[in-house]
Amino acid sequence: MSCVPFLTRVVLRNFKSIGHCDVRLGPLTYLVGANGSGKSNFLDALHLVRDALATSLDNALNERGGVAEVRRYSSGHPTHFGIRLEFILPDQRRGHYAFNIRALPERGYEVQREECVVGKLGKGPSFRIERGVLQSSSEATFPAVTADRLALVSVSGLMVFRPVFDALMSMGFYNLNPKLMRDPQKPQDGRLLKPVGENIVSVVGHLERVAPDRLALIQEYLQTVVPMVHGVERKQIGPLETLQFRQDMAGSKAPWHFPAQNMSDGTLRALGVLTALFQANSEHSPLLIGIEEPETALHPAASAALREALAKASQTTQVIVTSHSPDLLDDQDIEPERFLAVVSEGGETQIGPLDRASVSMMRQHLFSAGELLRMNQLVPAPSDPDAQSKRQDDLFGQGDE
Ligand SMILES: Nc1ncnc2c1ncn2[C@@H]1O[C@H](COP(=O)(O)OP(=O)(O)O)[C@@H](O)[C@H]1O
Ligand SMILES: [Mg+2]
Repeated sequence: MSCVPFLTRVVLRNFKSIGHCDVRLGPLTYLVGANGSGKSNFLDALHLVRDALATSLDNALNERGGVAEVRRYSSGHPTHFGIRLEFILPDQRRGHYAFNIRALPERGYEVQREECVVGKLGKGPSFRIERGVLQSSSEATFPAVTADRLALVSVSGLMVFRPVFDALMSMGFYNLNPKLMRDPQKPQDGRLLKPVGENIVSVVGHLERVAPDRLALIQEYLQTVVPMVHGVERKQIGPLETLQFRQDMAGSKAPWHFPAQNMSDGTLRALGVLTALFQANSEHSPLLIGIEEPETALHPAASAALREALAKASQTTQVIVTSHSPDLLDDQDIEPERFLAVVSEGGETQIGPLDRASVSMMRQHLFSAGELLRMNQLVPAPSDPDAQSKRQDDLFGQGDE
């Protein structure tokens, strides 16, 4: 049984438009704010960690246009960007993983510091590396490290660090693309849904075989979001495969079968979102799912069903969604603690829990988050000046874990 939430705190420094952010996360987080405020950048910081571990830091940075595009450009020209993730592992141990990347004057970058601690410092597994040199470690032997790579990749060969690596690798990030979901796909690994839904047919096929109960749950929610649709299955066409939907037709007793080609963007996106949320099965269970704008292309009436699906999924998997849709947030029963407000002030992103006025209005059921967003009133609480003075060194060292 996994532990929800997996990530309890995220600290970012100079990551894209985010100068500084230090937020707590619960099982379900709605990151809300206007277009361009920096919501995707927040999720992308977590995604970068996963990409860097899955392939390499170099690859993760290059996919984002290089280190120059990833660190924040501003008049102060910060040379570093940093990420700290505090977590609870599935075995309940707490810990953190943090690194700081420095852009080199010519070109390229180096990992200035990288740190991983599980359990209380000095008691559990830990390492700290500075510019390619191991400074301290709980382990007697340690693989060679270099300044251009994240050591957690090579260190995952040591059993003690493997759970951290596996947990971070099991995060999934989604920005679903109905066009790619509609086209026939090549059969591929269907254990984990890929970021834009490019392997959704294989995932549906995999669930048909290993976890029919999960597929049934996805179909049940799909029907509440898109009432006409009764089910979905994988269909082979020559060397390729595609989705086939069952749909009610007026005047016909048996449901009709529809190829994905005829399905609306909204239906395909809804299926993608639900598959991302409920894909966990005995062979692969993500610990965190980040979903970009799950309500896009859906009818506003589907929002309630979508909110329910998000809440249900977050009982077993941590969920973070970005949204700028007041419709999705028009529910006075969503607790104010579930929201992180995202605003851009002079090009710099501020992210934080809702300010006191918004929380109080929501608690008194005067306004829902959606209504506050419509009125441009959903703003983060001003950060505490004491905390600001500690900003320089909050990426490393023992935190709240
Ligand atoms: N390296 C960077 N430094 C500063 N700002 C950046 C950087 N990379 C992207 N941005 C800014 O981030 C903004 C987009 O943020 P994004 O997370 O996509 O917004 P949202 O998802 O809320 O619509 C753009 O205004 C873009 O200029
Ligand atoms: Mg976005």
